[in-house]
Amino acid sequence: MQKFYVTTPIYYVNDVPHIGHAYTTIMADVIARWYRLKGLHVFFLTGTDENSFKTLQGAKKFGFDDVKEYADHMAKQWKKTWKELGISYDDFIRTTEPRHKKKVREFFNKIMENGDIYKGKYTGLYCDGCETFLTESELVKGLCPLHKTPPRQVSEENYFFRLSKYSDKLLEHIKENPDFILPKTRRNEVVSFIKSGLKDISISRPGSGWGIKLPNDETHVFWVWFDALINYISAGEKFWPADVHLMAKDIIRFHAVIWPAMLMSAGYELPRRIFAHGFFTINGQKISKSLGNAIDPVILAKKYSIDALRYFFVREIPFGEDGDFSEESLKRRLNNELANDLGNLLYRTLTLAERFKGKIEGDNELEGYLRFKKIDKYMDQLKFHKAMDEIWFFVKACNKYINEKEPWKLKGDELSNVLYNLLESLRIISILIDPFMPETSKKMREQLGIRSQDLSMIRFGEFKGKPRRGEILFRKVE
Ligand code: MSP
Repeated sequence: MQKFYVTTPIYYVNDVPHIGHAYTTIMADVIARWYRLKGLHVFFLTGTDENSFKTLQGAKKFGFDDVKEYADHMAKQWKKTWKELGISYDDFIRTTEPRHKKKVREFFNKIMENGDIYKGKYTGLYCDGCETFLTESELVKGLCPLHKTPPRQVSEENYFFRLSKYSDKLLEHIKENPDFILPKTRRNEVVSFIKSGLKDISISRPGSGWGIKLPNDETHVFWVWFDALINYISAGEKFWPADVHLMAKDIIRFHAVIWPAMLMSAGYELPRRIFAHGFFTINGQKISKSLGNAIDPVILAKKYSIDALRYFFVREIPFGEDGDFSEESLKRRLNNELANDLGNLLYRTLTLAERFKGKIEGDNELEGYLRFKKIDKYMDQLKFHKAMDEIWFFVKACNKYINEKEPWKLKGDELSNVLYNLLESLRIISILIDPFMPETSKKMREQLGIRSQDLSMIRFGEFKGKPRRGEILFRKVE
C-alpha cells in the first residue's frame, strides 16, 4: 500500500494551544483524511517540543518544581485540545521520550562520523523566544523582530555543525525539485537566504540540566532545534521520507535549510515537500498573550461546531497566505454557506424523498457540474481553498437545480428523476467534504442511508440509499 506521511511542527509547551496552532494542525488533519480517503496508508504526526529553555521558564511561572512534571501536564493539555477538536493524528511525539532521545544521539553520531561536527567558540546574540541566534542585521532597534525582546549576548564553547558545507547541495536540490519548498515565495526567500552565505551553526550549549545530553560529552546538551527536528525521524522513520512537513512561515528556515542539511549529512532522504502557510491575525491584530486575544480553539468549536471552524479555515484563507480571523466572517460563512447552501439542500431533498413512495431513479443530469479531477489536483497542490471552491461550485449547481426544477410541483417519473439526481449529488458531496468536515459528512451519510465511502465512489449512478431526514446539519447563529 502506498504510504503518506504528514507532520505538524511540534509545539512548545510553555503555552496552551491557540487558534494559530489549531490552524496548522487542522490543515494537516485535512491532508491526512484526504489521503486516507484515497486509500493510502497515512501516518500523521504531531507532538510537543519540550527540551526548550521555555519549558524551564514555564515550569517556574506556573510553580512547578519538577520541570518534567510540568511538561507532562502541558503535553496532556495539547493532546486534550487535539482530541476535543477531533484531530486524527496517528502518533504524538514528545521530545522528552526515550525513543526520541535515543534517535537524536544516533543521528548526531552519524553526522559526527561524517566529519560534520567540530568544537569551537561562539559569540552571538541569542533570542530565547526564537530559540536561535540572530544577527545584528536581523534586529529591529536592537530587538528581535518577532518577540520584541532584546537578545542575550552569549559567548560559549560549543559543538558546531558544518552547515556551510551544504550550501551548493541544498541549492541544487531546491532547483531540481521545484515542489520541495512551497509556496514559491517561500522558496525564493530560502534560496536568497542560502545564497547570502550559510555559516556553520552551534548545535549544543554547555550545561547538563534540561535537554538531551550529547553522547560524546555529557557537559553539553543539544540546541533545542537540532533535537526537535529529529522528531520527524524518531517517530516516523518507518514512513520516512515525509511527504509534507507543514508549518507557518516563521519556522521555514529551520525546516528548509538546517533540517535538509542535517539529513544529507546523516545519510537520510529529504522530505518531499515543505509547506509554510501564512500567519494568522485576529481582527487584524497579531495573536499574543499580552493583547489577550489568543483565542481558545475549543471554545470556538463549541460555539460554532468543529466543522464550521474547519470550513472557515479552509475557505477563508488561500492556503499559504496570511489571513485574518474574525467571528463575524465565521458566522457569515456558517449561516450562508453551511446552513443555507449545504444544510438546506439536504433538508429540502430529504423532505421530498421521504414523502415519495415510488422507485427513485434518474439520469445523472448533474454529473457535468462535478469536476473531480480539478478538486483532486488542487488537493495534491495543497490548494485547499480552491478545492473547496470547486466543491461549492457543485453544491451551488445542486441548489440551482432544485430551484429551477421545483420538485415540490412534480409527480411520478419526473419527481423520481429530480430526487435521484439530488440524492446522488448529495452522496458525492458527503464523500468530498469528509476530509474537511468529517462530522457533517457522517451526518449526511446517515441521513442519506448510505455506508461510509471512499474517493473511488465518486462517480454517478451509485445511489442505493434509504434516505431518512434527521437533525439539521448547521444551525444559524445570529
Ligand atoms: N517548537 C517549534 C517547532 C519545532 S518543529 C521541529 C515551534 N513551536 S511553536 O509552538 O512556536 O509553534 C509554531 C507554529 O505554530 C507555527 O509554525 C505555526 O504552525 C503555528 N502558529 C503559531 N502561531 C500562529 C499564527 N498566528 N498563525 C499561523 N500559525 C501559527 O516553533
